[in-house]
Amino acid sequence: MLSYQHSFHAGNPADLHKHIVYTQLLTLLMAKPRGLTLMETHAGRGLYDLNAPEAQKTGEAAEGISRLKIDPELEYGRIISKVRKKRGETAYPGSPYLAAEKMRNADRLILMELHPAEHQALKKTMKGQRAEVHHRDGYEGVLALSPPVPRRGMVLVDPSYEVKTEYGAVADFTHALAKKWPEGCILIWYPILPAARHEEMVSALTRLKPLRHEVRFQLKDGKGMLGSGLLLVNPPYQAELAFDAAIQQTEGVLEAV
Ligand SMILES: C[S@@+](CC[C@H](N)C(=O)[O-])C[C@H]1O[C@@H](n2cnc3c(N)ncnc32)[C@H](O)[C@@H]1O
Repeated sequence: MLSYQHSFHAGNPADLHKHIVYTQLLTLLMAKPRGLTLMETHAGRGLYDLNAPEAQKTGEAAEGISRLKIDPELEYGRIISKVRKKRGETAYPGSPYLAAEKMRNADRLILMELHPAEHQALKKTMKGQRAEVHHRDGYEGVLALSPPVPRRGMVLVDPSYEVKTEYGAVADFTHALAKKWPEGCILIWYPILPAARHEEMVSALTRLKPLRHEVRFQLKDGKGMLGSGLLLVNPPYQAELAFDAAIQQTEGVLEAV
């Protein structure tokens, strides 16, 4: 099902949680000079305009990125400031853009996006970058390309969970990926909803001993999202610092659980 469009949700508190942790994890992995392979199963369009009708309709960014004090001395703040300078004050970078900003010459960035229009927009966003952009199912594509060269690296798994079966699909995919690419880090995002369906996925992944980090927030529209969660399989050294950063850099927006 491809009805979900991230343009309605870009910059919301869940995005901040995922994006700050992702940026910090990339920084930790890049502490070593050896090249990395960065892959995304669900890339989205890479860059969003918070003035677009979709974003204005939900107003979710007003409860997330718009409340953040941007500190260019911090890595996430540095990228946000740079994007705003280059693309306009209402530009908001998605995960592929964050990765592209941090990429070094020895790194590879491989992005999967299945929605035709989102894929086209992603290709446009990534023009001039060394990203490999695929119009492909993210689970199938990442498994087909694993283990990649370079063998160090990380996969971001960021589906919309519009259908209940997505939780099981993520768990099955993660087990299959950990088998094919045992040294790859896997960062999985999930929403915390009243039905708590994520718990089944978390239980199914216990054997891989992931780190787990959750935050709570209050959204005005009360549509049900209570918080945001991340699971990290094969965490890099000092990965907890990335989780701490998300709390410290979002004072008052995200609440630690
Ligand atoms: C939550 S958004 C991704 C947001 C992005 N990771 C970010 O943080 O900027 C999920 C995206 O996955 C895409 N999608 C849905 N099913 C997919 C699949 N099976 N394979 C690849 N992409 C898919 C949707 O079109 C949507 O653009």
